[in-house]
Order: sequence, then C-alpha cells, then structure tokens
Amino acid sequence: MNRTLHIGVVLLVVAIFGFGAWLNLRQGEPAEGTSTTGMVVGVEIGGPFELIDQTGATFTDRDLAGDYALIYFGYTYCPDVCPTELGQIAAAIDELGADGARVRPVMITIDPERDTPEVLAEYVPLFHERLVGLTGTEAEIRSVAQAYRVLFRKFEDPSYTDYLMDHSSFVYLLAPDGGVVGMFRYGTAPEEMAAAIRQHMKANS
Ligand code: NI
Repeated sequence: MNRTLHIGVVLLVVAIFGFGAWLNLRQGEPAEGTSTTGMVVGVEIGGPFELIDQTGATFTDRDLAGDYALIYFGYTYCPDVCPTELGQIAAAIDELGADGARVRPVMITIDPERDTPEVLAEYVPLFHERLVGLTGTEAEIRSVAQAYRVLFRKFEDPSYTDYLMDHSSFVYLLAPDGGVVGMFRYGTAPEEMAAAIRQHMKANS
C-alpha cells in the first residue's frame, strides 16, 4: 500500500469511528465506541436492497434469506485492499469445510460507474465460484452503502492513470434471517471469521 493511500485509509477509519460516535449521540445513547469486531454499538446496520448481479439479473436481500452471507463493499479496480479481503472471505468459506456451502459470499461495488455486470462477471470468479458481484445505479449504491455505514469517495493518485476509491473495508456477517450479526475488520484472519461463523451456526442449530 502506498503512503497516500495508507494515510487515506487511516483518515477513513478515524472518520468511521467518528461517524459511529455521532450516530450513537444522535440516538440519544452514550458513545460507547466499538466492540472488538468493530461493530458500532447501538446502531442499526444493514437492511433491504435491490441491485443487479454479474449476470444482469435483479438480486435483492431476499435472495440471501435462509443462508449466512459475508458481504463486502469494494471495487474491481482496487489495487490491493479489495483483492486481499475477497481472498480472505474465500479462505474463510473453505475453512468451514462442508458448512461453507451455507455461506454466500457477496461483493457490492462502490464504483458502479466502472463496475458494470460485465466487469463483475470477469472479476468475481477469480476469488470464489459462488461469489456474487452486485452493482446498481449511483443512487442505489449510495443507499445500500449508507445502510451499512460504508464510507467511500473517489480520489486521484498520481501513480495510477485511473481514479481510485477510498472506502471503508469491513466484512459483514448476515444471519439466515438477514440481520447483521457481525463485522470483521480489514485483515481479520480467515480462521477467525470461520470460527465466528461456526459459533453462530452452533448457537442457532
Ligand atoms: Ni479497495
């Protein structure tokens, strides 16, 4: 990761936690900070969405009902963070063995301008055969990102010809009922993600 990007990510993390604290205050609750998994305490995260998958078909939150899901917000032009994190998600699913079939990996782009279904169709199989890539209009993406408290913005880096995106980088764990039951920070080991998922499966079996 180059220095500019690194500083950008650090600022973004500060912004996310600042935003979380602000949301808590807005809800009239004390700003309790975050739990060890980075879950913003006292804030409702997630919700319904209607987007387009890499085959061009409509894909909504209801398509995930009945399965666990690992949702990541990123973009295909990302030079480092997104490919790393998508690799970690795939590894976590492998780590679960047979139970991995009960977990749907999903990537929602925060760069719909470039990430068309065609672009996603070439990208997602590189990480996992079942990885679903979702895109939509700018308004739809802004809305789902807001629901998940994902921050993103376009920026130019002189070492790249195309623009890059600064974005928060959490992996969200959804339970079969669609509720967000966990958030993993960037860099969480696949074994740690798998263990948390296994714990949820055990508690609900
Ligand atoms: Ni990225």
